[in-house]
This record gives sequence, structure tokens and C-alpha cells, in this order.
Amino acid sequence: MQQPVRIAPSILSADFARLGEEIRAVDEAGADYIHIDVMDGHFVPNLTIGPGVVKALRPHSHKVFDVHLMISPVDPYIEAFAEAGADIITVHAEAEADIRATIERIKSCGKKAGLSIKPATPADAIWDLLGDLDLVLVMTVEPGFGGQSFMEDQLEKVESLRARVDALGTPIDLEVDGGIDRETAPRAVAAGADVLVAGSATFRGGAAAYADNIRRLRGEI
Ligand code: DX5
Ligand code: ZN
Repeated sequence: MQQPVRIAPSILSADFARLGEEIRAVDEAGADYIHIDVMDGHFVPNLTIGPGVVKALRPHSHKVFDVHLMISPVDPYIEAFAEAGADIITVHAEAEADIRATIERIKSCGKKAGLSIKPATPADAIWDLLGDLDLVLVMTVEPGFGGQSFMEDQLEKVESLRARVDALGTPIDLEVDGGIDRETAPRAVAAGADVLVAGSATFRGGAAAYADNIRRLRGEI
């Protein structure tokens, strides 16, 4: 069942020189999850942060740390992100040959398991894994960078995953990531998404604007 919309600011668009402060600001502004993008310069053409930074940020918020691993291989790093304080660990279906084993590894660390698919990966590639997941993440841009345009053609994938998740009847977050703003957010929600990642749309305008930015994404203003 589609749950109330939750907003997950992607700290990729925050001021990296003041990350702790930025996380406290979006926490107070009403963020539900803190979305942390981890990139390796191999699975995606960009480099961001590792478990050391996640650990350093952990004391700055009690909100759910939603850690999006865009790295391959990913198996050798699961424990480190779990120990660093991730609550949800999301891996890419394209990142390992035996992704079911990766999901089991996340769960054996006592963490919630998420699975993401790139725009070119069809929804049915993960049909058989849905029952083992806490979260499914549909990329609505090519992963790697913030500030890209929303890919409308991914909405169909969100719709089919919504139907499949509802048929299973278990509570699985259906998250979208990339190009979410006040125009695209309602379309993603109408297609069935219930967690919206938003980097540029959350962090634009400086800290004084974060609360309104989040409420706007939630459809409240
Ligand atoms: C892209 C990342 C996203 C990104 C979203 O690979 O996974 O989380 O930060 O940025 P916006 O919301 O600016 O498209
Ligand atoms: Zn992300």
C-alpha cells in the first residue's frame, strides 16, 4: 500500500564544507530520511563519500540514514556502511552478479535492504527479489550527478512496481531519485512513489528556504 509521502533530501546538493550543519538544518526543516549518495568513479562517473563521512555525520541527526550505494563491487563495503550508522542500505541490481546474496548480507547486518535500478533496467529484472526488500529505488536520471532532468519514461516503471508491491501486501518503500521538484513530485506520487529523493530542490535558496522547499515537495504548499 502506498504510504504517506516522505521526503529524502540528497546531501549531494548540500554545502560539503558544512555537512553536519546542513543535515541538522534539513532535519529541523522536516526531512524524513537523509539520503546519502555514495559513488565510486567506476559504477558511476563521479566520486563522493565513504563510510568515514557517514560515521562522522551520524551524530548530527536521528532521522533515517538512507544510504544509496552506486558502487561496484559493493559486497566488500556493506559491513562498513552498516557500522557507520546507515539505517537503509540500497544497492544497485546492476552492481553484483548475485545481488540476492548482497541483500542477505545487508539484512544479516541488521539493516533495511533497498534495491535500485538504473533507467535502462526493466522493473521485471527485480520481480523475484521484491519480497526480500524494504525499499525499491527507481532512478529517474542516470545515476552520477545532481541537478539533471527528470526522465518521464520511468513513471511507467514506478506504476508497475507499485502494482507488484501492492499485490505482495508487504510494506516496501517505493522511492524515486533524480530530477524531483515541485512539478515532477506530484507525477511521481501519482505513479505510486512514496519516498521522494530531492537534492537541488531541497537545498536551493539556503537554510532559510529548506522547510518551505520540503513542504512544497510534499504537496503541502
Ligand atoms: C544521482 C543521485 C541523486 C541526486 C539527486 O545519482 O542518486 O540522489 O543527488 O539530485 P537532484 O534531486 O538534484 O536530481
Ligand atoms: Zn541517490
